Amino acid sequence: MRLREFFRRMTNMKRTMKRRTFVRTVAASGALALLPPVLRSETEKTITSNQKEYTQMAFEWKFNPRPYSDEEAKKLLAPVVDAETTDWHYNTHHKGYVTALNNIEKALETADRSGANGNYSQIGELKRRTTWNHGGTLLHDIYWDVLGGDGDPNKGPEVKAAIEKEFGSFDAWKADFKATAISAKLSGWGVLTFDQLYSHRLLNVLVDEHHYGAIWGGIPLIPVDVFEHAYYHKDGPKRALYIDNFIANLHWGRINARYKKYAK
Ligand SMILES: [Fe+2]
Repeated sequence: MRLREFFRRMTNMKRTMKRRTFVRTVAASGALALLPPVLRSETEKTITSNQKEYTQMAFEWKFNPRPYSDEEAKKLLAPVVDAETTDWHYNTHHKGYVTALNNIEKALETADRSGANGNYSQIGELKRRTTWNHGGTLLHDIYWDVLGGDGDPNKGPEVKAAIEKEFGSFDAWKADFKATAISAKLSGWGVLTFDQLYSHRLLNVLVDEHHYGAIWGGIPLIPVDVFEHAYYHKDGPKRALYIDNFIANLHWGRINARYKKYAK
């Protein structure tokens, strides 16, 4: 293509495209150096300002605090997990999902959509890992929130009544919840879920990894993490023992508040 024709096309493209789309297209094509000086200077300025804009615009996923300090966690959660696990699980594993989610968010800003296909592509892998890390981040937030109590369901009267109505009795719920969580893969969750969007029932949902098996529009109320990192350091292969201790440590006041917030 002759240079004059190239410049004419770039100028037309700038007129017809939205400013950001034009800048992205030029930057992605590597054609910046070929632009006429006036257009290049303006475009360089816009790219710089857009990079700042992206930085400001990129959604930041939060590493949320727990309802107790790291030191308090060691005592409050002692019947469920050992002191090291309260730290590793939160400050390494949970934080790792948040960090990955933010890295993915940034990578999605410039990912090449044109190479998408059903086998392997950059955009496909970024999208795939988004749901994994989104699930990991959200479920861990709630996991920490529901722990640290005395296990007395009478402190959550509304959610206790809903459980009894759905499952027949609290013990029947507990047996089903435990069986659900024991049956998840070695990396998975058992989740008492309020099916807000569809049936308005309470369901014990088996989730492999962080997302396979989750239901659309379901509000997680009690998620028990059965990834081996959650319990192996203290209980080894005794997953059932860990789940018993988890249920006995639930904070039904916070669970009840969460249930009432969504079950209107
Ligand atoms: Fe975990």
